[in-house]
Amino acid sequence: MSRFYGRVAEDSLLGPVFVGQAEVDWHEHIPRLTAFWCQIELGIPGFNGAPTAKHSALSRVRPFEARQFERWIQLFTDTIRGGWSGSRVESMIDRAVQIAQVQSRAVERAEPWSPK
Ligand code: HEM
Repeated sequence: MSRFYGRVAEDSLLGPVFVGQAEVDWHEHIPRLTAFWCQIELGIPGFNGAPTAKHSALSRVRPFEARQFERWIQLFTDTIRGGWSGSRVESMIDRAVQIAQVQSRAVERAEPWSPK
């Protein structure tokens, strides 16, 4: 998660949302995202966030674009494939693609995204 969000923070399309707009506190965000993935991928309870509500609040100010979802998935896929092997790799990527697709339709004012 820290490797992934390190790349997100430096990215020209995504960085400004996290750093400029949301002013994300990484010490808080990374454990939340870790809990999110532990819950959805490993079934370990512990995440109690509201991604759609948070994304919508941001997207109302500056609508999320399809190319931002595309970049998010690209960085996620590169980070996971570059650092790990085993069956969880593709399962996490598939799950991320599915969530990104659903989020792009659920988030207010977001531009719908589908994998190419
Ligand atoms: C266009 C792509 C995306 C952008 C720009 C984006 C941006 C953000 C930002 C800035 C936050 C922090 C909001 C805050 O704390 O106020 C956040 C939270 C979060 N995002 Fe995303 N996100 C994107 C896609 C995704 C995807 C594809 C997933 C899941 C696979 C995801 C999962 C989450 C989760 C779980 C949270 C935490 C929600 C909470 O703490 O309640 N995001 N996102």
